[in-house]
Amino acid sequence: MGALWRSLTVAVATAALLAGTGAAVVLAQGEWAAPADAKAAKNPVKGIGGGKKSVETNCASCHGSSGKGDGPAASALPTKPADWTSAKVQAQTDGELFWKIANGRGAMPPWKHLPDKERWEIVNYIRTLKK
Ligand code: HEC
Repeated sequence: MGALWRSLTVAVATAALLAGTGAAVVLAQGEWAAPADAKAAKNPVKGIGGGKKSVETNCASCHGSSGKGDGPAASALPTKPADWTSAKVQAQTDGELFWKIANGRGAMPPWKHLPDKERWEIVNYIRTLKK
């Protein structure tokens, strides 16, 4: 559960920061959209490379081994992890998924520390799960 605690810590720190600046931002609520430039970013990487392995290590605990959002940790989360096979996820651009994976939101941890190439490979892997 290290990832969960890390994300909770980030959420608490963010909330404190927002309270400090008085910004009226709702955390982890409603539609989640990436900025336009992130949406338009082109995927420079072909193939899944180590994407599947990275997903098994980093994401399957929440998103499940087949990406349906039903991993063993999912039921303990306040928000249900996204179903990668769903139209909602598959309809997004590669750039949007890449940005969301980097930044996270609420119970979804940020994965900025993974190399860009690995995150694009994860996006390519998520594409192979399209129903
Ligand atoms: C600690 C649990 C957890 C882990 C680990 C996790 N996620 Fe998530 N993920 C979530 C939750 C919860 C959401 C829904 C967040 C929301 O809608 O606010 C989510 C949402 C998403 C979304 C969907 C965004 C959308 O448009 O709805 C993508 C894509 C995603 N995760 C990819 C990943 C990838 C790739 C990894 C591994 C590198 C990963 N996640 C690891 C919990 C997790």
